[in-house]
Amino acid sequence: MYRTHHCGEIQKNDVQKRVQLSGWVDTIRDHGGVIFIDLRDRYGITQVIFDPSDSQKAWDLAQSVRSEYVIEVEGVVEERPDAMANPRLLTGEIEVRCDHIIVHNESTTPPFPLDDKEAEKVSEELRLSYRYLDLRRQKMQNNLRNRHKIIQATRATLDAAGFTDVETPILTKSTPEGARDYLVPNRIVPGTFYALPQAPQQYKQLLMMGGVDRYFQIARCFRDEDLRADRQPEFTQIDVEMSFVTPEDLYGAIDQVLAAVVKAAEHAEIGLPIPRMKYQDAMNCYGSDKPDVRFGMELVDLKDVFEHTNFNVFGQILSKGGSIKAINATGLGSIPARLVEEWTELAKESGLGGLAYIRVQEDGTWKSPIVKLFSDQEKEALTEKLQIKENDLILFAADQLNVVNTFLGSLRLLAGKKAEVIPPNTFAFTWVTDFPLFEQGEDGTLHAMHHPFTSPHPEDLHLLETDPLRVRAQAYDIVLNGVELGSGSIRIHKPALQTQLFKCLGLPNEEVQARFGHLLKALSFGAPPHGGIALGLDRLVMLMVGGDSIRDVIAFPKNQKGADMMMDTPSRIDPQQLKDVHIEYVNPVSTPESGPS
Ligand code: AMO
Ligand code: AMP
Repeated sequence: MYRTHHCGEIQKNDVQKRVQLSGWVDTIRDHGGVIFIDLRDRYGITQVIFDPSDSQKAWDLAQSVRSEYVIEVEGVVEERPDAMANPRLLTGEIEVRCDHIIVHNESTTPPFPLDDKEAEKVSEELRLSYRYLDLRRQKMQNNLRNRHKIIQATRATLDAAGFTDVETPILTKSTPEGARDYLVPNRIVPGTFYALPQAPQQYKQLLMMGGVDRYFQIARCFRDEDLRADRQPEFTQIDVEMSFVTPEDLYGAIDQVLAAVVKAAEHAEIGLPIPRMKYQDAMNCYGSDKPDVRFGMELVDLKDVFEHTNFNVFGQILSKGGSIKAINATGLGSIPARLVEEWTELAKESGLGGLAYIRVQEDGTWKSPIVKLFSDQEKEALTEKLQIKENDLILFAADQLNVVNTFLGSLRLLAGKKAEVIPPNTFAFTWVTDFPLFEQGEDGTLHAMHHPFTSPHPEDLHLLETDPLRVRAQAYDIVLNGVELGSGSIRIHKPALQTQLFKCLGLPNEEVQARFGHLLKALSFGAPPHGGIALGLDRLVMLMVGGDSIRDVIAFPKNQKGADMMMDTPSRIDPQQLKDVHIEYVNPVSTPESGPS
């Protein structure tokens, strides 16, 4: 009834055909009495024209339409004169000469232009308040399409590999993934609450105990945590769990998914298997557990070089058991002094005493406040270890190893960006393996680095009580271009070991029973060895479409404060609704009646 074609479809071989199109008025121009409208729908744009000599009535009505009106038109396809063809449009070789128009709906003037370039100049808050308009933009339409294709490719690959898609509850019990829970009050038993799942972690393990063998779900997760460009309070995981598997089996299954995703997003094929790197090597060479391996500039350990140095700053740090490392920011030998000062400030903010550097001149000589204190032997060793050439910039950090790694890891990313050595359209996946089982909080307590269901490395079990920080986990991350895309592990499947782990984490027995009693019980009924992973779907899509924020690939995201600007939520609720769930506002919190206090 509304259309014979969509707006991205009509081609030269349709010339002379009578067609009917429906869509939004993208732009409207009047050229000497002839009206040109770019008619837009999700498939593309077709130019339609109204000439009073074809139909005065249609022309009259066409003259009254404005941007974003919804119209239906009918007319005959014509070839555009060569000079008028628009190679940027799918339909750029034709136009439709119309003698009929229906206005299905008018539109108020949009609060921002829906052209991709112009729209991105306005504040994101404004775009999010009118997300339905923002979504009409070509870029957003493409992002949603790509997200869909990536999900389809994921489903198809996992289905072919024998995985079963199982839904798990949203109203559930707290499960520890390191964030705060969103809570839902329970009307039936006053004072009790559901938690929204931070991840389907325990359910997917319980599915393995239920004999499902290979599970997946495109799962919604909820986490109350500080938001950033790559974090939303609700987000989606490609959640996977498998029985009777080793990490190798799991890497193999996920490699297939990622290869299919890259293909679905129409990028060049990636080579399989995806390379692996041990956590320790990632920290040592890249100063990060999510190494961006698209470029070099790796961290180089210089302890051996400066063992007997006359340069006091380095000598003292080494004698206190500290570490000295450097990166060769290749090609940055002549960057402005201002930038080096900026980076020195960053070093100080990271707790380092300063940032020593060498600028290598065009003629190969070294310019640096510290080299006069270096011996010839030290200089030679540096040249060799850092492969120093003309116009390089060497940046040194000296402090405790973790401080040095963290700082140089982030400086490396800044230097890589500055030197423009990061190749575009490259997808460098890396498995980071053998994470530590625990990390230590500032108060000395142990926390699970991944989550408390992660299995220790079998070779390190004997260290669990005596030297827990040295215990490796059977845990892994998948990293893409320096972004943590997913995390997973082989799980503990023996109740005694799970109990021991909770004990290492300092959880009192009563708490273990209250929070995890169900899991321990399930483990006691013949749980199979199992393991899995969850990939952040939003991050994956963001990287595949070259975006900077996951908000761009989520239809209705929250803003930086966790609010949905369009629905105006979170919002106050009716006092009666609160009463129903046995909750009362406590002063001085403002209530809908009293207004904000
Ligand atoms: P983890 O907590 O590491 O592991 O989460 C897995 C992946 O989910 C994505 N992610 C997020 N994406 C957007 N916004 C957020 N707030 C957010 N938080 C996490 C990341 C992350 O790598 N149950 C375990 C997985 C397992 O062991 O199988 C889990 O959820 O891309
Ligand atoms: P100072 O002797 O403090 O003037 O330091 C001499 C040089 O070493 C300066 O260029 C400092 O920026 C640099 N420097 C000082 N502390 C450190 C450190 N911890 N790591 C790297 N460079 C440092």
